[in-house]
Amino acid sequence: VSASWSEYTRRRPPSRVLHLDSAAAGRQSRATLEATAAHARLEAETGAYVAQGQAQDVLERLRGDVAELFGVPPGGVAFVESATNALAGLLDAWSLPPGRPVGVVPAEWGPNIEMLTHRGLDTVLLDTDDAGRVDLDALQRTLDVDPPAFVHLTQVTSHRALVQPVAEAAAICRAAGVPLWVDAAQAIGHVPTDCGADATYATGRKWLAGPRGVGFLAVAEAHWDALDPFRDPLAAAGQAPPRYLESPEAHVAGRVGLAAAVREFIDDGPPAVLARLDELGRLARAVLADVPGWGSADFADAPGAITALRATAGQDVAEVRQRLLAEQAILTTAVAPARAPRDIRGPLLRVSPHVDCTQDDLERLAAGLAAVR
Ligand SMILES: Cc1ncc(COP(=O)(O)O)c(C=O)c1O
Repeated sequence: VSASWSEYTRRRPPSRVLHLDSAAAGRQSRATLEATAAHARLEAETGAYVAQGQAQDVLERLRGDVAELFGVPPGGVAFVESATNALAGLLDAWSLPPGRPVGVVPAEWGPNIEMLTHRGLDTVLLDTDDAGRVDLDALQRTLDVDPPAFVHLTQVTSHRALVQPVAEAAAICRAAGVPLWVDAAQAIGHVPTDCGADATYATGRKWLAGPRGVGFLAVAEAHWDALDPFRDPLAAAGQAPPRYLESPEAHVAGRVGLAAAVREFIDDGPPAVLARLDELGRLARAVLADVPGWGSADFADAPGAITALRATAGQDVAEVRQRLLAEQAILTTAVAPARAPRDIRGPLLRVSPHVDCTQDDLERLAAGLAAVR
């Protein structure tokens, strides 16, 4: 590990586990934890709303940082609690042409499909290549011939190494006048997210290593006037329309903590962080390639830091995950097929290291997996 990545470790409380679970929630830094705690304390000392007023500059700087990461003006950013809440808010506020489905790929995040269905929206499957990436020529034809209400892409798939070409898809969608919405829950802090999408949303707890319960969405300015969000009569009047999607009651201390986490990401240098995560994904896939009883669920040359393994010797993946944690102090995820029922049939073991992971760590996981067979 280069000095700067071991610095990433030093900025955090010591870990009791080998933490390979950033795709669930990253490890918060001391600065993030302290910023959250300090704001909560200020609430007790001065009154919660006074404290919020005092944090306005920090919160507006966070809004500006998030706006820049998504390539929209700051007025297009709203803070919510989670990626799921963000999608629900967008669906409430966006007026969609009736009777048309939403275009998705088979690897779409399962709960998103469920939410679309719950809102009475059908989905139509877009063609992909073998790896699961949307086929851009086919997308162009679909938009020409039978355009969906909008296209929804999960930029980085949760359950295996897969990154959608969202910038290219955004250009095609824009030319066709069909909005592109992007679920960037696994993308923010992990791959470039300034992609020209019409709406993008995410959560801060994963690759940005922010506090839990703080998410955000970003809407491109061209759509602001068409949004019809619930306008809380107690909210300040005359705000940019996406701002009405912001939860007025919130864990403000968490937002203050996220501001610290995002600052650290920016100070570390996003291109270096993203390159390191991509490098680690490739390293993990190479180190884990020959572990007995496990096969790769990823395609060769897949990008990003997420790696997924299939059990090939009949192991119960959830039990292996539990034993890895209990016996080896190694934290991974057991991925249930409900995360992407149109893409995977059985459970997968997901490995999602952050920048400070080392080859030794990955070899420890390989040995751990061999030991819990
Ligand atoms: C791709 C993807 N979308 C959405 C979500 C849901 O995010 P949240 O729990 O913040 O609602 C997740 C969480 O794991 C995810 O991986």
